[in-house]
Amino acid sequence: MQQQLLSEERQGEVFDKLKGPAEGQRNFYIESYGCQMNFSDSEIVASILMEANYAPTRNMEEADLILINTCSIREKAEDTVRKRLRIFDKVKNSKPGTLVGVLGCMAERLKTKFLEEEQLVDMVVGPDAYRDLPSLIANADEGDRGVNVFLSREETYADISPVRLDGNGVTAFISIMRGCDNMCSFCVVPFTRGRERSRDPFSIVAEARDLFQKGYREVTLLGQNVDSYKWQQPDGQLHVNFAELLAMVADVDPKLRVRFSTSHPKDITDDVLHNMARYKNICNYIHLPVQSGNSRVLKLMNRTYDREWYRNKIDRIYDIIPDCAISSDIIAGFCSESEEEHADTLEMIEYAQYSMSYMFAYSERPGTLAAKKYEDDVPEEVKKRRLREIIQLQNQISERHNLNDVGKVFEVLVEGDSKKSTHDYKGRNSQNKMIVFPKEAGVKPGDYVTVKVEQATSATLIGTMLQTVTV
Ligand code: 5AD
Ligand code: SF4
Repeated sequence: MQQQLLSEERQGEVFDKLKGPAEGQRNFYIESYGCQMNFSDSEIVASILMEANYAPTRNMEEADLILINTCSIREKAEDTVRKRLRIFDKVKNSKPGTLVGVLGCMAERLKTKFLEEEQLVDMVVGPDAYRDLPSLIANADEGDRGVNVFLSREETYADISPVRLDGNGVTAFISIMRGCDNMCSFCVVPFTRGRERSRDPFSIVAEARDLFQKGYREVTLLGQNVDSYKWQQPDGQLHVNFAELLAMVADVDPKLRVRFSTSHPKDITDDVLHNMARYKNICNYIHLPVQSGNSRVLKLMNRTYDREWYRNKIDRIYDIIPDCAISSDIIAGFCSESEEEHADTLEMIEYAQYSMSYMFAYSERPGTLAAKKYEDDVPEEVKKRRLREIIQLQNQISERHNLNDVGKVFEVLVEGDSKKSTHDYKGRNSQNKMIVFPKEAGVKPGDYVTVKVEQATSATLIGTMLQTVTV
């Protein structure tokens, strides 16, 4: 999951926070890899640890506890984690007593094997077992290396207030559900994150309201497949679906922008699209992974829609929300994919006019349906060449998409300084495009401003500010 997203294998971010540790307090250091859900989970972990009297640190050398929240989605993601563990080993060797813990999807996938393979790992904790961290740490202090990879059907951490670690104070993620029931044949997620479960909508709205009161102006509702969000009151009286949840969060305040990720083409409904069109503060942006543009490949992937269905969804989105931006995830070289089938994917990119995509070469994951049923028979060089073609086409389309914005005026939520210059601000428009513009006096992060776009590259829009907006 985006994002914004939800880019997989995002380089590890180090969370630091607030204040240093008080006397006698122990420090933890946490790195996160993978999808936005992992980053969001790390904020829950931080909250659990701070309750247990740990203080976060940015500096791994001064940490008593080093945690790595891991991703298993592709082999490369796991390789990155193993490399980081070698570095943690060095710190641990130079400072005996330091504990190292592996969290997240790789912990879940490898379970006790981790302790066998990695002698210096002290605890292995799956995505549903974070409440157990304080007791696993206490055991590890006594020399007992521990594993908790229990997958729950209920855990949503609804009552835990995430500690917003490395944030900008303007945009935040809210996890609305966990797990995935879809069983796409290439995907390890259903095995590492367990069954799908939706979080109580009132706790979601309360979290959004709390963020708004603290000055945040944008929330992204996160789930593996947000469109299948469904919650019912234990007595069965009240049911809430995703379209309704969106409206509930959008009603918190017109000045609070609402985004969501990720959508599944089979589940996104017209009600969701109509609510997006109706509420100005629900952003006009949908991450709608296609994976492949060919119906036979989609069937092998177990995506449960075909090319026609997907094209109709795209048409429907542009009909109901004409200025909506759509982005995608695409896999090159899935099992038995032919050149013609690959060409169908290229054609779909043209058809959908994605503003951007996350693009990957297929990486077989142990235990998935595809690993069991199909041969990973597209040669590596062919996968790489097809991926290059996909990236090249997407870059052209992104550039065209951005050039098309030159001359237009957008409402932008100011997020902070641009990456390149402290003289410029950056912020996104409703379509999730980053716009950079020179700072103006009196404007601060969290403000809404209108910006006229003057230049575009395939990645960024550059403009000048016209005025501040009172929404
Ligand atoms: N190989 C390559 N890409 C994958 N993804 C998921 N599993 C695999 C895999 N085995 C991609 C999909 C998904 C995104 C999060 O990662 O495109 O949407
Ligand atoms: Fe994986 Fe498919 Fe679930 Fe996404 S929807 S997490 S690709 S199984």
